[in-house]
Amino acid sequence: MTIAVIHGANLRLLGRREPEVYGHSTLESVNDALYALAHTLDVTLEVFQSNSEGAILDFIEDASSRVDGILINPGAFTHTSIALRDALLGVALPYVEVHLSNTAAREPFRHHSYLASGAVGVVSGFGLDSYLLGLRGLVARLTGGIGTD
Ligand code: DQA
Repeated sequence: MTIAVIHGANLRLLGRREPEVYGHSTLESVNDALYALAHTLDVTLEVFQSNSEGAILDFIEDASSRVDGILINPGAFTHTSIALRDALLGVALPYVEVHLSNTAAREPFRHHSYLASGAVGVVSGFGLDSYLLGLRGLVARLTGGIGTD
């Protein structure tokens, strides 16, 4: 099984970007933790980061023939991008939306997600662990485990 992991806008700044909100983990350490978990779950990851909405749309289309599901932290595109929602629903792959911060507890403009209603699930507020919980949930769903009742 292969899962695409997509980090959207500004996530390459992790570690030095508003650490009081996003913590001290770098994007590299997030990816290292994901690769370690993926190894124990026996899944392969294809990891992608871009600050460009169009590049993310192109990646989703390209990767859709190679992967079984998508784990995505869209960054601010969460709250702005109908095109990203359309791409994810267009390739018809199950996806999980994750956020380091609890977006529901932040500014009102972060409360709405264009992606959430099409997602298998959303994990928000657990820092780096949001990604790990999201990966576990997505793999479980794809293998008929938890979350399918
Ligand atoms: C974020 C939350 C978004 O509102 C914000 O624009 C980000 C990061 C998070 O992981 O908490 O860039 O997706």
